[in-house]
Amino acid sequence: MTETGFNAEVLPMEVAVAPGTDTPRILFVNQASVLGGAELSLLDIARLLPFHNRVALFRGGVLFERLTQAGVAVDILDPTGDGLSRVRKNSGLWNVLGSLALLVRITWRLQLLAGNADITYANSQKAMVVGALASALARRPLIWHMRDILSADHFSPTMRRVAVMMANARAATVIANSHATAEAFVAAGGRRKLVRVIHNGIDSKPFDAITTQMATLARTELMPLDNGFLIGVFGRLTPWKGQHLVLEAISTLPGVSAVFIGDALFGEMEYKHTLHKRVECEDLRGRVRFLGFRDDVPRLMRAVDAIVHSSVNPEPFGRVIIEGMLARRPVVASAAGGVLEIIEDGETGLIYPPGDCAALRAQIERLQNDPALCERLGAAGYNKAQACFSRTAMIYSIRQVVMDTYLRKQHRTDPKINNKDAAEN
Ligand code: UDP
Ligand code: GLC
Repeated sequence: MTETGFNAEVLPMEVAVAPGTDTPRILFVNQASVLGGAELSLLDIARLLPFHNRVALFRGGVLFERLTQAGVAVDILDPTGDGLSRVRKNSGLWNVLGSLALLVRITWRLQLLAGNADITYANSQKAMVVGALASALARRPLIWHMRDILSADHFSPTMRRVAVMMANARAATVIANSHATAEAFVAAGGRRKLVRVIHNGIDSKPFDAITTQMATLARTELMPLDNGFLIGVFGRLTPWKGQHLVLEAISTLPGVSAVFIGDALFGEMEYKHTLHKRVECEDLRGRVRFLGFRDDVPRLMRAVDAIVHSSVNPEPFGRVIIEGMLARRPVVASAAGGVLEIIEDGETGLIYPPGDCAALRAQIERLQNDPALCERLGAAGYNKAQACFSRTAMIYSIRQVVMDTYLRKQHRTDPKINNKDAAEN
């Protein structure tokens, strides 16, 4: 980073900020400190957006470490507590009210930080609620990067109402990670004119860096005794991500083995335990491995024959799908939500109806029996991901939204501009 926060890795070709304009100061806010897709995306944005970036996290954890290592300034809002983690997405009014004292404390701390920034940028739903209150107190504009589908599958009516009400009242812009996420926001009562869709973008370099030799070595580590068709399922372990469905699908495909990469990030230990128990049964024994959370996803993706996405509810976006494409592997994904904005069935991947075990089984079997199809889908998927889901394009689009918000704010608060407007009218 240079002094102005300009990062040559992403934006060498244009002046990031219009001449004569100060560099905006952005305060990102995120609730979780584990590494889910929203947090990995935030890591890229906070590192690469060419502004003065600071991040406020509700609590400490691995995200704090990663941001700090990347040179991003981070504040923790609730260093000794649990950072509102007792308030769940499906919490009702009483649960929310029960955490009121903590909510007030976190909001107060955040508004002090927001007052020293030009824009508050909320990266999660709880962060948006607290960010809306804090940015109102600090009289600063709010951007909400919305990464969840606001539906009854994941959110209680109270949570949906609060989110929509706050966003309508306070957000200058709602960035949705897919059209599916945007439409769910509007269907829940959100104002359409606030929304801009910006898909996640992924850096292809770590995938391109994996040679065939490295991939072969990784494969022997994964399944030393196996010569069959190996699928990889990447993502946190949680019932709606549908890992159980994959186990059932391959239980009657004896030539197929599977590795599961990811952990229960939000306390879904019972589900994890159920999955582990299931693979001890005769029909799956010796064919499945759980690797937990891994940092070498590109290497592992290049080591498998195909990548399976199994969410049983609509996936808001699905970074793992783009990553699978960048690894040049055929991706089988569940046909709902953001997935339909990424994959053209039979061209850049294969899809199947969410939760349909027989259909998933059939798509895996199809790939197992057709190496040429795997090759074709892998190549086309790679080209599509490069062309449509690049990290550079994502950073450019977000930069534009932030600049628009910043300039609108300057326009409102700069007396010189306001006087000039008054004289012209
Ligand atoms: N991931 C990872 N290590 C793991 C499992 C997953 O780094 O062991 C990453 C994965 O590469 C992807 C992200 O976690 O970038 C998951 O994002 P996605 O959008 O697919 O799902 P989310 O968890 O956000 O719902
Ligand atoms: C959320 C969504 C996921 C999306 C990610 C990044 O975690 O569950 O689908 O890819 O955010 O925006």
